[in-house]
Amino acid sequence: MNLKGRDFISTQDWTKEELIAALDKSAELKQKFKDGIPHRELQDKTNFLIFFDKSTRTRNSFEAGMTQLGGHAHFIDSGTSQIAHGESPKDMGIILSSYGHGIAIRHDLVPGEGNTYMREVAKHASAPVYNMQCDVDHPFQMMADLMTIREIFGDNLQGKKIAVSWAYAPSYAKPMSVPQGLIMLMTRFGMDVTLAHPPEYTLMDGPMTAAKKNAAENGGSFRVVDSMDEAFKDADIVYPKSWGIQSLFHKPEEALEISKKYKHWICDEEKMKLTKKNSIYMHCLPADRGYEVTDAVIDGPHSVIYQEAENRLHTAKGIMALTM
Ligand code: CP
Repeated sequence: MNLKGRDFISTQDWTKEELIAALDKSAELKQKFKDGIPHRELQDKTNFLIFFDKSTRTRNSFEAGMTQLGGHAHFIDSGTSQIAHGESPKDMGIILSSYGHGIAIRHDLVPGEGNTYMREVAKHASAPVYNMQCDVDHPFQMMADLMTIREIFGDNLQGKKIAVSWAYAPSYAKPMSVPQGLIMLMTRFGMDVTLAHPPEYTLMDGPMTAAKKNAAENGGSFRVVDSMDEAFKDADIVYPKSWGIQSLFHKPEEALEISKKYKHWICDEEKMKLTKKNSIYMHCLPADRGYEVTDAVIDGPHSVIYQEAENRLHTAKGIMALTM
């Protein structure tokens, strides 16, 4: 399977076979990293990392990953580049791909903007374009999540129950791309996906339609409920996290007032008791401890957050090594 030159903007753009090949490559590189075996498969290659938003895991997994693969990653803050003066995605895509071998972009804070922006860059760039999180999907996070789930439950996920739930957080309107990415990807692997949220926290139509279609085509199921408890009942995997109200990302104070009605949407030990005995708790991080989740759960026996975060490195490397 030759994936050289391919963009990775949404998991929806790749076949299941291609996604599994990427997970296999990620597992191979994870083992080599742990065994101290050099794997300089991208020697002298450059990946440009453009950030419109903050990051810990994504930036550092891409930067460390490029170094370990023998290449280099440049960090570009969109606010201190000519993007801030309005330089077009077309010009940037053409020019940066003439300097290097990949362009990775995080543009996730404004619904309707980030995915369109990176697809415009990809249309003109001669190098692969990587989505480090947009308004629609967070595909590298999804691949790390799927890798983690397969490490724990095995490759056959048919019938495994995952609860993707909204949770309260007072900090800021977090993108919708993680729950959207989860409902799109996990339905492709035959899982029974339950999405739970208060009425105001609906997701975008595109990912919802894709999740329904994926479930129908892959023998899984997809349903929406309005209670975290209901979603957690008998779940194998729970993934509770906060996200913003689609129509209020530009009115944060108004959105915050609405969210206060739902402070009880917290993942605590009582809610974990509803899940299966060997269930796992996942979160892409950063988590709002004490709001989205209690310390007892995130630091407790169900939590796999550090394995999940570590897999961001291995999946970033796997996909870059196959495509760049
Ligand atoms: N999960 C995730 O994308 O983390 P960062 O925002 O720190 O990159």
